[in-house]
Amino acid sequence: MALKVAVLGAGTMGHALALVYALGGHEVRLTDTSMSMLDKAGGLMEKALAGLVAHGEAPAECTAEWLAGAVTRLPTLAETLEDADLVVEAIVEQPDAKRAVYAEVDRLAPMHALIASNTSYLDPFPLIPARRQPRSLIMHWYTPPYLVDLVDIVAGPECDPDCVADARDLVAAMGKVPLVMKTFVPGYIANRIQSAIAAEVYKLIDDGVATAEEIDTAIVHGLALRIPVVGVLAKADFTGLPLLQHALRNATYQPPPPAERSSTLDSLVAAGRTGVMAGAGYYDWGKDTAALFEARDRRLIALKQAMRGIGTMAGAGRQVD
Ligand SMILES: NC(=O)c1ccc[n+]([C@@H]2O[C@H](COP(=O)([O-])OP(=O)(O)OC[C@H]3O[C@@H](n4cnc5c(N)ncnc54)[C@H](O)[C@@H]3O)[C@@H](O)[C@H]2O)c1
Repeated sequence: MALKVAVLGAGTMGHALALVYALGGHEVRLTDTSMSMLDKAGGLMEKALAGLVAHGEAPAECTAEWLAGAVTRLPTLAETLEDADLVVEAIVEQPDAKRAVYAEVDRLAPMHALIASNTSYLDPFPLIPARRQPRSLIMHWYTPPYLVDLVDIVAGPECDPDCVADARDLVAAMGKVPLVMKTFVPGYIANRIQSAIAAEVYKLIDDGVATAEEIDTAIVHGLALRIPVVGVLAKADFTGLPLLQHALRNATYQPPPPAERSSTLDSLVAAGRTGVMAGAGYYDWGKDTAALFEARDRRLIALKQAMRGIGTMAGAGRQVD
């Protein structure tokens, strides 16, 4: 059933989530407090959609004209939330901003609306008005959500179990992979593991043990190839568990404790090397951001299509033949 979906925030995640829900057959309204961001979101959605269509990941009839009909960009929350069945909160990760937007959602959205936060690390539930709690949950996507399939779903403390089931079915109906978590933990599973990797990476680079290029070489050519096929725990079974016991007892290696800063990261940011959007970060990228996104998406699509053919021996959809 097509839902009326209100997406709040049109930034890195919001514009892409609007596209995902539109491709899922829903009627989407998108808003942002920044009119320039709302304007920019149109071009970003169009470009991402064109890439998906070109590589067979979206139907050919999903043209720019189709997109203009499927996603309406609106300047006010009131217009965006009118008659909404699902509210997707994808605004900045700041508690005061989220609390204020939930108060407005409470004032303006129909009572039947499901409220879904895309928060990464912040617990949104204390920020949501009491009477909305039974229909509030987290649906956390990864960037770019039109290519990364995992969606973490976490019930709020008073969330009706039917809402969780509805969210799971909604995600699955769009061809994505819902993961219903038992409880809220900041960063869910994937981001927590990514944070542990990041702690190690920051230490290696800050201590001068390895360059950015060397670290990525080790990850891409050593760590990454096996992960889609065997995950981490199925890989452990292939390694043999006693070796892992020995590795745990091996006092020559201690994972770094979480650090609040990385000197390399701080000096890059101070030099204006803030990432692809700025033309440089750990690497030099140049100014054609759209072409870089296109090049990333093209490779991710090719990998996804290959993975579909290969299958996985770990996690959801596990096959052992
Ligand atoms: N960037 C990622 O990779 C990623 C991945 C998963 C989850 N998230 C989460 O998604 C949320 C959004 O992150 P992002 O990276 O898209 O942020 P972003 O900064 O790119 O975009 C946030 C947008 O929200 C707008 N905004 C702020 N207050 C608003 C309001 N009251 N109403 C409407 N719009 C408002 C801002 O103008 C901005 O355009 C955060 O909670 C973040 O933690 C981000």
